Amino acid sequence: DADEADLYRRIEVAKETLGDRVVVLGHYYQRDEIVAHADFVGDSFQLANAALTRPDAEAIVFCGVHFMAETADILAREDQQVILPNLAAGCSMADMADEDSVEEAWLDLAEAYGFDPEGSDDPADYPGGKLPVVPVTYMNSSAALKAFCGRHGGIVCTSSNARTVLEWAFERGERVLFFPDQHLGRNTAKAMGVPLEQMPMWNPRKPLGGNDEATLQAATVILWHGFCSVHRRFTTAQIDKARAEYPGVQVVVHPECPMPVVDAADAAGSTELIRQFVADAEPGSVIAIGTEVNMVNRLAAQHPDKTIFCLDPVICPCSTMYRIHPGYLAWVLEGLVAGETHNRIEVDDDVARHARTALERMLAAAP
Ligand code: 13P
Ligand code: SF4
Repeated sequence: DADEADLYRRIEVAKETLGDRVVVLGHYYQRDEIVAHADFVGDSFQLANAALTRPDAEAIVFCGVHFMAETADILAREDQQVILPNLAAGCSMADMADEDSVEEAWLDLAEAYGFDPEGSDDPADYPGGKLPVVPVTYMNSSAALKAFCGRHGGIVCTSSNARTVLEWAFERGERVLFFPDQHLGRNTAKAMGVPLEQMPMWNPRKPLGGNDEATLQAATVILWHGFCSVHRRFTTAQIDKARAEYPGVQVVVHPECPMPVVDAADAAGSTELIRQFVADAEPGSVIAIGTEVNMVNRLAAQHPDKTIFCLDPVICPCSTMYRIHPGYLAWVLEGLVAGETHNRIEVDDDVARHARTALERMLAAAP
């Protein structure tokens, strides 16, 4: 409609005026009207790298959610401005692990495993040359939690490198505390051969996370109780239905889906893996996808020679990703043209320093 066309034009005019001074990054879950203006579109790992590839730009406008913009600010040049067009674009999963709860869990674990919670993060200082617990945070977490991992010998992972990161962690430690997403942690560790009995859940509201001593002693991966409300909706019944209706259908899902769903799928991986899976499929293929619907619909439009649909028949957008409306993108870009910065995301220096340590470990372990 006319309003949409006007916004499209305003965004393009502002971008053209700004030229190389600005780079617009867009996550795959963004709506089409945003993706149309993005200089880079990718999964959360690719976008973290994209932030590094444009040190010449004065501003990085991040069309994604808050933790992604924070990560860009941590990795960006110091005077580069990172902008989140709508500050209300958070991630409910990231909010499920707060710093205080994780700090408390760390104290409990230190007592259970008999280590100094503020002790050395060098494995060589521990019996057997291994840290008692290595904290691993999913990218979908606050900068404070990435900093926590940086301070305690831990690391960050994304859905595209979780396995490589867990291998890194197991080399350095006896066990892993994985947060916030229980499903990514469980699915990845299971694929690596860790038995389910060795993956207790940690409920921060209960003493010892709701576990007994024996369970904790046997633990290899301690899983935080977080989850993604979008990916939690996918079920094996939906997969059964798709297989019944479309014999030969291929099912690909995001690893934030519950374990039975990942087990029943033909493939699981990050949004980039899903994109690649669709691109590589033969013409005429039928593909059912378990991830955010904006991305699924875009893939369907990009591949008219394939039948592509979302496993969840009820629309399942990520409501916070959707909060990046073109109106906000126009507003922040026009602000930059006028010399005004709106919605800058700035991580505190001390937090950023430690968070960078954990992010750099990830970039080194899984380039
Ligand atoms: P990706 O790392 O696969 O892009 O996923 C990010 C995300 O938020 C998925 O819900
Ligand atoms: Fe967070 Fe889920 Fe949205 Fe990804 S899809 S940003 S994990 S709420």
